[in-house]
Amino acid sequence: MAGAAEIVRKFDARYPASATPRVWRAPGRVNLIGEHTDYNLGLVLPMAIDLACWVAVAPSGDEWLRVYSQQLGAGSQWCIADIPRALPVGDWTDRVAGIAWELSRRGVELHGANVLIDSQVPLGGGLSSSAALGVSLALALGGPREPLEVAKLARAAEVDFVGVPCGIMDQFISAEGWAMFLDCRSLSWSSVKLPADVAIVTANTMVKHELEASAYRTRVEECAEAARKLGIGSLRDAELGALGALDGALLKRARHIVTENARVSRFVAAAEGDDAAEMGRIVTESHISLRDDYEVSCVELDFLVEAALRVEGVLGARMTGAGFGGSTVNLVHPEAVDSLKATLAAEYRKYHGLTPEMHLCVASPGASEVIG
Ligand code: GLA
Repeated sequence: MAGAAEIVRKFDARYPASATPRVWRAPGRVNLIGEHTDYNLGLVLPMAIDLACWVAVAPSGDEWLRVYSQQLGAGSQWCIADIPRALPVGDWTDRVAGIAWELSRRGVELHGANVLIDSQVPLGGGLSSSAALGVSLALALGGPREPLEVAKLARAAEVDFVGVPCGIMDQFISAEGWAMFLDCRSLSWSSVKLPADVAIVTANTMVKHELEASAYRTRVEECAEAARKLGIGSLRDAELGALGALDGALLKRARHIVTENARVSRFVAAAEGDDAAEMGRIVTESHISLRDDYEVSCVELDFLVEAALRVEGVLGARMTGAGFGGSTVNLVHPEAVDSLKATLAAEYRKYHGLTPEMHLCVASPGASEVIG
């Protein structure tokens, strides 16, 4: 896929009688640090990457919203009048219906449209393909232009229509772009510049365990329960020395959230101080906490993290995103990127029979219309 001209060509082939489409793109993201903290109103530091979801949209001239996914070779359609009563069906088309449903819920007048989706963000790869789709579509179908507002809308569609009780991180970074240190309680944020001697490489396990959706919901509930037992509104206000009311799984979950929030702040300070080695150490600590306390890793993620940490020049590695598959994120000295990629490819193939897709990430701008 190479830019707006290419997606317009695909659109024209799919909808030959249609008007010329407008094109929008929204990036995927890699979360550098701050995992599972967003729905606990904590701190996160995601980065928008140079893999994006593109959507081409033109008025259909009738009462239908039609959509076709180039990756999946599949499509669907809804009568505009039925959108307010639409229900999720349990597949990717919910992300489209959900955005239209949320727009109509907010009083945006919907019109018939032909939509072609062409995404570079790997599905199920832990790099927020869903948020990139939601944000690009929300813009394309007439949603608000302000990044925080479009992020809130896309998140509401995910929570209230699709039924995933996610935080705001993925949608916000996709809408806003670059790398942001975000406080998920106040929604205040600042840009973070990474030191020049740190490259960011993602490695996709190519697996997505069934458990992911149910485990995510369970973690959200466990955190709410832990906060209740501590007598606080959210785990954002928990302190390490005051987790005495908790034991077992709830203690471990709360300990991850408290220590992860602290790691985000330490990571930001290390980035500001150009301390690449410290950034790497913090990232690896995060993985251990996600593996042992939050229990959202899996053998494939652990394998890729451990293999990466044995490569000379790798500063740190951890799982990124919700877990139970998807990708790892590696902080690497730029000159070690090739040997990291070669080692992970060879070792993962040998032990798991799979070739991990790897990507050297470039921080990217947020969602926008693509002109020309
Ligand atoms: C998914 C969710 C996010 C966040 C991460 C875990 O990507 O969509 O809101 O909770 O998992 O950090």
